[in-house]
Amino acid sequence: MQKFMIVGGNRLKGIIRTSGSKNATLPLLAACILNAGKSVIHEAPRLKDVAVMQDLLMYLGAKVNCDRNTIEVDTSSIQSVEISEDLMRRMRASNLVLGALLGRFGRVRTSYPGGCQIGSRPMNLHLKGLKELGAKIQEKFGYITAEAERLRGADIHLDLPSVGATENILMAAVLAEGVTTIRNAAKEPEIVDLQNFLNKMGARIVGAGTDTIKIEGVTQGDLKPAVHTVIPDRIEAGTHLVAAAITEGDVTVTNVIPEHLEPLLAKLREANVSFTVGEDQIKVQGNGKIKAVDIKTMSYPGFPTDMQPQMMALLSLADGTSIITETIFENRFKHVGEMRRMGADIKVEGQSAIVKGVEKLSGAYIEASDLRAGAALVLAALAAEDGTVIENVAHIDRGYERLELKYNALGARIIRVHN
Ligand code: EPZ
Repeated sequence: MQKFMIVGGNRLKGIIRTSGSKNATLPLLAACILNAGKSVIHEAPRLKDVAVMQDLLMYLGAKVNCDRNTIEVDTSSIQSVEISEDLMRRMRASNLVLGALLGRFGRVRTSYPGGCQIGSRPMNLHLKGLKELGAKIQEKFGYITAEAERLRGADIHLDLPSVGATENILMAAVLAEGVTTIRNAAKEPEIVDLQNFLNKMGARIVGAGTDTIKIEGVTQGDLKPAVHTVIPDRIEAGTHLVAAAITEGDVTVTNVIPEHLEPLLAKLREANVSFTVGEDQIKVQGNGKIKAVDIKTMSYPGFPTDMQPQMMALLSLADGTSIITETIFENRFKHVGEMRRMGADIKVEGQSAIVKGVEKLSGAYIEASDLRAGAALVLAALAAEDGTVIENVAHIDRGYERLELKYNALGARIIRVHN
């Protein structure tokens, strides 16, 4: 159990570099299963979740070498197609290996992923898609078994643009017989990165980033190891932009793809945050009063749900009342109670939070309930008067590489305490 002790009130100043994307690295590591060889992933962030995916690959029999932010994965030695309950419970995204294992070995067995703070997060769309590719699916005793001699291409329409279901079906379809079309597919940049990696391996995929993706099936022999550099983490970069704005700081966030951040930048602009966009960096100069804005989370390129808590922290200090509506996850307002402890004026009604801006926040003893809620509480504490203690920072470590070191280098005062 670790916690952060934060003294607020310091303006952040300087340059901060964004790490590689967690939500791109996880499916890229899973995709390494498809080619029976050694792939290399550069710029992989050193995060708890990435370590769990490495453990999972090694559990299946792969050889994994990690040197700082470079991960080498050799999947020629994979023996097993069963994922243990423990690994599934440690990280939901363990379910991203289903499609690749089924595609390469024709069989996979896994327990259901563990519960999640932010919503029920079923896997029905993943399984429906694999069934349409010809897999026989059995769900029994808390386990899912999927089998198919060889998957065959299909025309799949997703009920909603699920990121995980799109990624799993995409990976399964790479080795299917014939052409697969995924309609109403998720359009997130992480899916484009996955397509680019798979095509380097020898797959034939077009359309990622749009709502229709086409995959022309190839054979195992067509696939070869690939070397790939992960895209920057747009959610980590977005968190830094809000950290700069909430502390009225002067910060340049480097290693970003500005286009990936456009949904957030549009709202920061509306909220009167001033920033300049460069080719691969964004500079925020906090100087004006934040203005209230309304936000509705949507799938990409709508406003990202993974930035909702951080934006709420900023808007809790805005001039006026903002309405934040969460449409992706049914239980993603766990940070509200903690922010109220710091003096924020927020009321939740159904899927919406009504955030009435206050003059200031003050320090308190609070708890992180999940990854992005935890990050938002750090931002609120940086802006608050006096000191704040945040428990359960392990949640934050799942998605941010040593966040306290990065912010202390910009003038913050954060201490990590080991209980
Ligand atoms: C990915 O989760 C991200 N995780 C999440 O980031 C992110 O919040 C989410 O996409 C939405 O952008 C990774 O990429 C590892 P979904 P995923 O399937 O794939 C429902 C973070 O903070 N749904 O797009 O699990 C589901 O319940 C994390 O980094 C079904 O109903 O998200 C949810 O309401 C948190 N049935 C909605 O779709 C299904 O079979 C979107 O989920 C699948 C999903």
